[in-house]
Formats: sequence, C-alpha cells, structure tokens
Amino acid sequence: MAEKRKIALTVNGVRREGFAEPRKLLSDFLREDLRLTGTHVGCEHGVCGACTILLNGDAVRSCLLFAVQADGEELTTIEALSDGAKLHPIQDAFIEEHAMQCGFCTPGFVMSTYELLTQNPEAKDEEIKEVLGGNICRCTGYQQILEAVRRASREMTCAAESAATAAVTP
Ligand code: FES
Ligand code: FES
Repeated sequence: MAEKRKIALTVNGVRREGFAEPRKLLSDFLREDLRLTGTHVGCEHGVCGACTILLNGDAVRSCLLFAVQADGEELTTIEALSDGAKLHPIQDAFIEEHAMQCGFCTPGFVMSTYELLTQNPEAKDEEIKEVLGGNICRCTGYQQILEAVRRASREMTCAAESAATAAVTP
C-alpha cells in the first residue's frame, strides 16, 4: 500500500486537512475522510456526473481527480448550498418542479446548475441543455429538471435585480 500524503484544502470555506494515498479518488476522500456524503458516486468513470463539485469555481467530476490533486485548492460541495434551515433557490426549484425521484443524481445536477447560474443567472435554454447533458438521471426524465433550472434562473435573476436596486436606493 502506498504511503499516505498529507493534504490541506479549503472545503466550503473551511480549511480541512487529511491523509490520502496517491491513488485515492477525491470523491472518496470527500465522502470517507471528510464525511461529506452529499457528493454521490455512480459510475466512477466521469460519465454520470453524480460526483460533480466545484474546484476553484469550476464544475469538475470528483471521481476523475485524485485527492492529492486537490491539495491547496478550494472546493465547493453540495453541503455549502444550504445552511440546514434554508435551501438554495436551485434546491427549492428542484423540489417545486418535482425534478427528482430517487435523488441519487440530484447533487450532481444541482452543482452543475449552480456553476452555470452563478456565472450566468439568465442562461438560455441551449446553455442549460448543454450543461445538463453532462449529467445522467435514470428515473426522473429530463423535462422536470429543465423546468427546475429555468425556475431557479428566474428566481436568481430576480434576486440579483432586487439586490442591485437596493444598492442604488438611497
Ligand atoms: S461518479 Fe463521477 S461521473 Fe459518475
Ligand atoms: S432521480 Fe433517480 S437517478 Fe435521477
């Protein structure tokens, strides 16, 4: 067994440290070592998108990275989106639009959507479909998921406009 290496990274705004064998997947490190089990693992081949997280703001598949590659980096996982009392508008939208059944794929879809809408809250359908095309759901069907992203887009655009108005109102 290869010797473990010490790694330190920032996860959801908190500095975390741990030890990982060079071949340990980042997805497994998050789930097993940091106990952040909201990141799901499906295919482990970069195909299904269930393990999607943000690495320095960009959506990545954590099953395609080794934990040691994240040393010194900044990660965002699904756990960052809600404080436990209030859900993120994207999560609310998935509930409102019935965009899940078993929910296994949902964290990946939500994180892919989060990357898209934080960069471009007014994303067009073509952009949304391009992003959602990287995630697989075996049970819901994609129409409700598309509706959820559209709803989240409207909510986040509205919130951004309200914040801008408040900022210029004396
Ligand atoms: S578990 Fe990573 S893409 Fe499927
Ligand atoms: S809700 Fe079951 S896999 Fe998507």
